[in-house]
Amino acid sequence: MKPNIGISDKNLQSVAGLLSSALADEVLLYTKTRKFHWNVKGESFMEIHKLFESQYNQLEESIDEVAERISKLGSPVIGTMKEFLTLTAIKEAVGKYPQRIDMIKELLNDHETIIKTLRKNIDECDKKYGDVGTADFLTGLMEQHETIAWTLRRYLN
Ligand SMILES: [Fe+2]
Repeated sequence: MKPNIGISDKNLQSVAGLLSSALADEVLLYTKTRKFHWNVKGESFMEIHKLFESQYNQLEESIDEVAERISKLGSPVIGTMKEFLTLTAIKEAVGKYPQRIDMIKELLNDHETIIKTLRKNIDECDKKYGDVGTADFLTGLMEQHETIAWTLRRYLN
């Protein structure tokens, strides 16, 4: 049964589209953070290894929350690598094993990309689609990315 929550079907579908792209970005960044967790080496290895682990665990929770929000709005949830790769704005580091400082820079850049996209989408959800619930949800998600970005930035001078 379709949700009857005071938002048109068309707008619900548009919001689900935004959320699907957000989901794809979260999955890509989750995967990249795991890859960097596995491959980090050198000075402060264990600290960075654990830092990345705590970050991918946070991203994993966000993935589930975004996915379930799509379902709450009445749309099917994408769940294949092919769809994630089509929808994401995050670039994979195929065949690359950067030094840990470059891993931190790359992850920071990806979090900042997501923050900028979310900021734009929050405004659209609220003003264009009249979905203040999703705007609020995405604001919380953006703040989580802002915290991770801040942590990563502190490793850079
Ligand atoms: Fe591990």
